[in-house]
Amino acid sequence: MTQTDLLSPDAAGIARAAQYLGQGALVAFPTETVYGLGADARNSLAVARIFEAKGRPRFNPLIVHVASAEQAQDYVEWSDQAQALAAAFWPGPLTLVLPIRPDAGLSDLVTAALPSLAIRVPAHPLARALLTAFGGPVAAPSANPSGRISPTTAAHVMAGLSGRIEAVLDGGPCPVGVESTILGLTGTPTLLRHGGLAQERIEALLGHPLQQDTTPGKLTAPGQMASHYAPNAPIRLNATTAAPDEVLLGFGPMGCTLNLSPTGSLTEAAANLFPHLHALDAQSAATIAVAPIPDTGLGRAINDRLRRAAAPRP
Ligand code: TXA
Ligand code: MG
Repeated sequence: MTQTDLLSPDAAGIARAAQYLGQGALVAFPTETVYGLGADARNSLAVARIFEAKGRPRFNPLIVHVASAEQAQDYVEWSDQAQALAAAFWPGPLTLVLPIRPDAGLSDLVTAALPSLAIRVPAHPLARALLTAFGGPVAAPSANPSGRISPTTAAHVMAGLSGRIEAVLDGGPCPVGVESTILGLTGTPTLLRHGGLAQERIEALLGHPLQQDTTPGKLTAPGQMASHYAPNAPIRLNATTAAPDEVLLGFGPMGCTLNLSPTGSLTEAAANLFPHLHALDAQSAATIAVAPIPDTGLGRAINDRLRRAAAPRP
């Protein structure tokens, strides 16, 4: 049992968090998408502890977080396309999968020994300050027990991982609220996971529609386990009303237990998705019923998370 240190979002907290990372310890930190569970990506013992703390299968590779696009080029084979995407969307909720450099020097556990590496430059000021203070590559999955709802507050992280990690840097709620969009660039640009950057914005930059490979259950692609993001209660999708023993998660103007966005904003709905699921789950309802969400822009990431939350559990 480890005593988990709750660090404040100031210079002392950031310095302590960077020191923990340097010692091979696990530090959860806020990004604009969700809280990440960080470890030094060059240190196999530290990275192994991420998998242990989360109960995460070892074949599911991790995203490496760095402070800048320049730093990313130390670890992946860069390309004109990567440069254009990084210039447009970094720092921000976009992960690029690129061929890993032979001299990257990262733990094989990070990539699950794949020849590619998932890498991103997060936009959250605390994440950026931590990455700059630490100076090295930080491997970080979402800071939740594997398969459960992703954390968007320090309290969510504590509820799931307290006693299993050294520290949490508390930066308040995450503004975007769903994980980064993952784009494969090892061949034809391929969308591997819907996320906080809308597909439409990437397509507008590239000037053509993206190939997609977001199949649930396909493990060679992005750890896209069919069942994921699961609350304790089962989920019923496309609900317009709730049965007596159900709670209802709404969208748009309607009567419901909690509303993702009463005005029908998909940006607001993404930010509320995981906190509302955490809150409804705490009410111990028989079932969480969820209203239909438009399948466009950030709605695609929301629907992807909801489908996985509703999928049969292993
Ligand atoms: O927003 C995010 O991306 C958050 C924050 C903390 O940055 N992180 C996150 O990590 O969502 P995680 O581990 O929950 O999801 C990482 C995804 C997994 O689905 C994994 O399979 C995929 O990235 N992935 C990692 N390396 C890959 C690779 N080389 N090729 C394809 N997919 C990869
Ligand atoms: Mg995750």
